[in-house]
Amino acid sequence: MINLFKPHIGKEELDALKPVFESGWIGLGPKTEEFEIKFAEYIGTKYAIGLNSATAALDLSLKLLNINHGDQVIVPTITFVSTAHVVAYNLATPIFVDVDANLLIDAEDVKRKITPKTKAIIPVHYSGRPVDINKLKEVAGDIPIIEDAAHAVGSKYKGKNCGNLGTLGCFSFHAVKNLTMGDGGAITTNNKEFYERAKRLRWLGIDKGTWDRTEDNLSYWWEYDVTEIGLKCHMNDIAATIGLVQLKKLDKMNAIRKEIAKIYTKELKDVVEIQTPLEDTEDSKSSWHIYCIKCLLRNDLSFYLKGKGITTGVHHKPIHLYKCYNNIPSLPEAEKQFKQILSLPIHPSLTEEEIDTVIWEIKSFYAMYKGVRGHLYGK
Ligand SMILES: Cc1ncc(COP(=O)(O)O)c(C=O)c1O
Repeated sequence: MINLFKPHIGKEELDALKPVFESGWIGLGPKTEEFEIKFAEYIGTKYAIGLNSATAALDLSLKLLNINHGDQVIVPTITFVSTAHVVAYNLATPIFVDVDANLLIDAEDVKRKITPKTKAIIPVHYSGRPVDINKLKEVAGDIPIIEDAAHAVGSKYKGKNCGNLGTLGCFSFHAVKNLTMGDGGAITTNNKEFYERAKRLRWLGIDKGTWDRTEDNLSYWWEYDVTEIGLKCHMNDIAATIGLVQLKKLDKMNAIRKEIAKIYTKELKDVVEIQTPLEDTEDSKSSWHIYCIKCLLRNDLSFYLKGKGITTGVHHKPIHLYKCYNNIPSLPEAEKQFKQILSLPIHPSLTEEEIDTVIWEIKSFYAMYKGVRGHLYGK
């Protein structure tokens, strides 16, 4: 089987875990703090807050901006449901906007949909490709921008890391993300108040973590205050330990992804039934979390590849088409592209032979189809 995604973890992560197991401290503690410092350093922000998912990061970001009932938050329709669900969880209304030809939030549609009730915009760096944030900021004015950077750890826009382009950045360290710790997430920000409040909110609103309370010089070590109500969504030291090892390897792992993407593009760009994704430029460097082609006969191709032991995916169905968001077609570009998109296998453990097999099978499929159903191609 050639996997679509695969976590790139092994002995180094296991070795790093041993002393943490032996230390007896596996909850929220010093490893989480170390990860936060190093991750903020990597992204280039003043602060990072370690959480258990990007869903929690997006949710907390909305809470930090005091978004509530009656507010509207603009989200692109091509994304994972988390991006919209967190808006609904916070009793606000997600306003879906269309995407451009690269499946990124369409700034023109954002402009049309901003109202006095718009309290935030959540652009998604879909597949790892940075959104043109300058263009979006022109449209957004003072409206805060929460970057959904779940796909974009290591992506760069004009030399700056995604996650350091807006008011708050939200990352995922889920099992198959470019930097994995099984499950995990983080908020990045340069705002000290957001940082301090997020650290309380991730731990039920409690103003001191249990690790902080082990400091020797605290006379009432058991005492804490709860200034506002939060839920529990912090990172733990097991996840953070894996994350610290992954962070060291991240640039290398992303470079392998980029090489795979280059090979796919080189080999597939002349296949007339396929449109390959945007290539990197000096101003826009992808983390290549997803390699998404647009293709004719998408469903047939994906079934054919499945039969050959190659897993593909479709990222993502436009969210406004889900029942819980009304299922009313209204965003034509996303609806059109949804029928054509297919994610090909991409992860650092993919072998050259596997890459060649994927390319060979895609080309074989179209050659075969042309032979049998030439009329489809107008021939
Ligand atoms: C664009 C996007 N946003 C948010 C998330 C949520 O991430 P997590 O699983 O860490 O909550 C995902 C997960 O795949 C995603 O793809």
